[in-house]
Amino acid sequence: MSDKANIKISKKAEAIETWNFVFPNQSNPYGNMFGGELLAIMDTTAALAAIRFSGKTVSTASSERVIFKRPIFVGDRIKTVAKVVLVGRTSMMVRTDVFVDKGESGDDGSKDILSTTAHFTLVAFDENRVPTEVPDLILETETEKKHSELAQQIKDHVKRREERIKHVVEKWS
Ligand SMILES: CC(C)(COP(=O)(O)OP(=O)(O)OC[C@H]1O[C@@H](n2cnc3c(N)ncnc32)[C@H](O)[C@@H]1OP(=O)(O)O)[C@@H](O)C(=O)NCCC(=O)NCCS
Repeated sequence: MSDKANIKISKKAEAIETWNFVFPNQSNPYGNMFGGELLAIMDTTAALAAIRFSGKTVSTASSERVIFKRPIFVGDRIKTVAKVVLVGRTSMMVRTDVFVDKGESGDDGSKDILSTTAHFTLVAFDENRVPTEVPDLILETETEKKHSELAQQIKDHVKRREERIKHVVEKWS
């Protein structure tokens, strides 16, 4: 392997935005957007952010802490924002927020209302679909640092939870 191949690059993550208009076929029987439809949009946006950051193909390994804070209704315009906030060796945690766009008429004067937040972990692959190294993540702003700390706490919490339920999983799998 050449020296060049051993140098690990460091880079900032970009926020990737996707926009959707909520159609009737994306709703549950009560007129709210169906959670599964929303998760598909969030997962796709998270994958785009992870691909953009790593320059590799990726696959979702897990999702954590999905919080459906406010409902989304048919006819709403939604903006999904995804950004890599924490990296491991081959994995990336991507914070994904969904906002309902209220134009200029939000009740609190804001244009966007935060509806849903989730953290997805995606793994980067080489051409043989073997997990491969991702760049180191440069954190600059206070928000980036805060979001990264939260992601680390979620990751640590998941690890502890996996340990705690190990005997149950082993028993039932
Ligand atoms: C994700 C996958 C490649 C991991 O395979 P694996 O054999 O566990 O791979 P490794 O042990 O080399 O782990 C690779 C990385 O994934 C992470 N990882 C593996 N399983 C994980 C999980 N359930 N949650 C979070 N991270 C996970 C590991 O911690 C490791 O991260 P690191 O390199 O940053 O430390 C494999 O489970 C897979 O292909 N799953 C199916 C993915 C898929 O089809 N997704 C689409 C569903 S929408």
